[in-house]
Amino acid sequence: MKTFEVKATVEELRYDELTEAQKALADLAREATHRSYAPYSHFRVGAAIRLSNGEIITGANQENAAYPSGTCAERSACYYDGVNYPDARFEAIDIADRGTDGEFVDEPCSPCGACRQALLQYELLAGRGVEVLLCGRDRIYRLDSIRSLLPFAFTEF
Ligand code: THU
Repeated sequence: MKTFEVKATVEELRYDELTEAQKALADLAREATHRSYAPYSHFRVGAAIRLSNGEIITGANQENAAYPSGTCAERSACYYDGVNYPDARFEAIDIADRGTDGEFVDEPCSPCGACRQALLQYELLAGRGVEVLLCGRDRIYRLDSIRSLLPFAFTEF
């Protein structure tokens, strides 16, 4: 029998340690949480994706009375990009979350499995790692790629 490890490296940063480009993305993701529509969970998620053409697209979770029809913040942003900027590569994504108390979460939240798989496809189309920033109130987790969030992924497409 052979075993192998699947690892991800996560950097933990403070806001003041971010580059100006990272701060801009973090600010937009945080701001997008205010456009979440979450009457059921009251959990507000914002996402900001920077594209190779310089555009930054934001998304926020949109819930629905038919619960499974709701959409996460990450997928609302990434599918908008796919439709409107089909030729632009994804360069970076920032995700921010506000909990049911309305405050930004202390521990940065990681995207759900479905969003990881959806984002991974755009990373593979980009042909290089998409930087991931996960924003908590005071701490930001940084990963080099979506692949790091979904290391044992389905990629047969
Ligand atoms: N949510 C996101 O927007 N992104 C994720 O990766 C996980 C969860 C949303 C879905 C739902 O509206 C709320 O957060 C609570 O699960």
